[in-house]
Amino acid sequence: MCNTISIESEKGFFSDAINAVKARTADLALKYFIETYGCQMNEHDSEKLAGMLRECGYTKAETKKDADLILFNTCCVREHAEKRTFGNVGFVKELKAENPRLILGVCGCMMQQKDVAKRLFDRFPFVDLVFGTHELKNFPEMLLKALEEKRVFQISESDGEVIEGLPVERVEGFSTFVNIMYGCNNFCTYCIVPYVRGRERSRKAEDIVNEVREVVSSGYKEITLLGQNVNSYSSDGLDFPALLRLVCREVPELKRLRFMTSHPKDLSDGLIQAMSELDNLCKHIHLPVQSGSDRILKAMNRKYTSGAYLELVDKLRSAVANVEITTDIIVGFPGETDEDFEATCELVRRVGYSNAYTFAYSPRGGTIAARMENQIPEDEKKRRLNTLNAVLAETIPSNNDKYIGFEGEILVEGVDHRGDPLLFGKLSNFKMVYVEGDEKLIGTFVPVKVDGYRFNSLFGHIIDG
Ligand code: 5AD
Ligand code: SF4
Repeated sequence: MCNTISIESEKGFFSDAINAVKARTADLALKYFIETYGCQMNEHDSEKLAGMLRECGYTKAETKKDADLILFNTCCVREHAEKRTFGNVGFVKELKAENPRLILGVCGCMMQQKDVAKRLFDRFPFVDLVFGTHELKNFPEMLLKALEEKRVFQISESDGEVIEGLPVERVEGFSTFVNIMYGCNNFCTYCIVPYVRGRERSRKAEDIVNEVREVVSSGYKEITLLGQNVNSYSSDGLDFPALLRLVCREVPELKRLRFMTSHPKDLSDGLIQAMSELDNLCKHIHLPVQSGSDRILKAMNRKYTSGAYLELVDKLRSAVANVEITTDIIVGFPGETDEDFEATCELVRRVGYSNAYTFAYSPRGGTIAARMENQIPEDEKKRRLNTLNAVLAETIPSNNDKYIGFEGEILVEGVDHRGDPLLFGKLSNFKMVYVEGDEKLIGTFVPVKVDGYRFNSLFGHIIDG
């Protein structure tokens, strides 16, 4: 059972620190700038940091130059994250010379790797604050210390708790995120996430429903429930499909409920049934396959075969009308042969994804795969990535023919000004549709009919609802 800490019931340490920051910074009109790298989980953490800063009296700066506090919320999941972060942090030194009251903080997944965090803290003496992923609730207290000109380095090894009641400053718009769980227990051999985000812990359903209700009443029209593996959600006897049913029942005014990410090994018949039955649950699933080779899937510790994955895809397609599937794929995992790679291309052709995020395998310190023999040379990984992207460039559009004449509803997100201005928005199944129309429609649901497509986007016109 995980430990839930409520900021409400433990107001002391939290609000005392906020009040102390406020008292210290009153009349200074301080501004903050947060630069976020990586996934939605990090973006949402940044919204919580922004929420705490709002409570402390800070407002948002338009640029780093205008800021009195700059926070880098880092990611370490892929590629040259470390080099890039060190470069970006180094660059801020100049701004510190211009604004002596500027505080610089670095947080997020990369800082949960203690050796990397220590190296950064030692290399850049002008960095005031370094903290890990489990320290969000202590942020006001750490900020206070930084304002007192103390350097702060705070990284706890705990597996993390569930913290309820942190203030959130959401990015403006119509679509937002709600966490349902934190951490991951899966230890896919290439992945750093379980090491930097701790073990799986689910929020109580009641807290999730209350947050969804609050977010909807403040005007958001679409919510994505977030977790590293939402299919293993479990709290007070409720599993993930039960949670989805509960949210749809308790907050019927929410027209679009999404979720991500789903691990194929845990995708249940119950979820497929919920997707087919609940009108407000979107008909899209992000289902990372990672590889089409059973040998590589085993070495990745994914715990499913390509055959089992394809069976899931078939089940989804036959049960959920118009469902679209997107995925993540890694090429060049240690020991991947041409034959293994060809199996991945074959699976991609067979599934017919509506979109895919493709990555060259990148060794992450501390993971099992980083220590495996037969690492693939960089140029070969690049070649495979290009080949796979070419396969996707062929298969994604060929999946679009079925949309000609299709009628559905989009949530208008904005106007695309490349060429003649066109409104754009997504169907429930995550396909993007472009139509002519009035800007006033932004943020509303609009019925459309599809007339054509280009790569993974559809083009159409507005019809009478
Ligand atoms: N190398 C390349 N891609 C990775 N991913 C995670 N770890 C690595 C790594 N070491 C990809 C996976 C995952 C997505 C979020 O990032 O495809 O699904
Ligand atoms: Fe990483 Fe695997 Fe967990 Fe996803 S399920 S976060 S890939 S360990």
